[in-house]
Amino acid sequence: MDGIRFTLNGREVVYDGSAADRLLDVLRDIYRCTSVKCGCKEGECGACSVLMDGVLYNSCCVAMGAVEGASVVTMEGFRETERFHVLEKAFGEVSAVQCGFCIPGMVLAAEALLSRNPHPTEDDIREGLSGNLCRCTGYNAIVNAVSIAAKEGDGLW
Ligand code: FES
Ligand code: FES
Repeated sequence: MDGIRFTLNGREVVYDGSAADRLLDVLRDIYRCTSVKCGCKEGECGACSVLMDGVLYNSCCVAMGAVEGASVVTMEGFRETERFHVLEKAFGEVSAVQCGFCIPGMVLAAEALLSRNPHPTEDDIREGLSGNLCRCTGYNAIVNAVSIAAKEGDGLW
């Protein structure tokens, strides 16, 4: 086998390790994408969220063998987009960030939600973020931030 080829934040890469390795570990340890956080390693917290071909995944539950040919986006790549800046501004406006540990995953969950539903209701937002846990904020500010971003970024998603 000549490695696992995939796109990471727009750049083609080849991973030479085992197909059984976790995407989470590979992103953090090999490619230094440290925005991808390790919370539980059991698919429960969403801190390790990434986009794979535009779909939100818990990278702790993805084996590298499943990544072949995929386009993986982490916060290191997403932060270069205009949509990120809309979300960043909205999160700042309503003070939706406390310790920040959950925020990369939350923002990617918001991106996944708004990409498939650009005009979400509050219930849609809560559902879209339901796989991402936050120990600090009580969620309301984050939900408000995503709602504001959907309005202020109308047309970007
Ligand atoms: S570290 Fe992957 S879901 Fe918690
Ligand atoms: S801001 Fe601390 S876990 Fe969400």
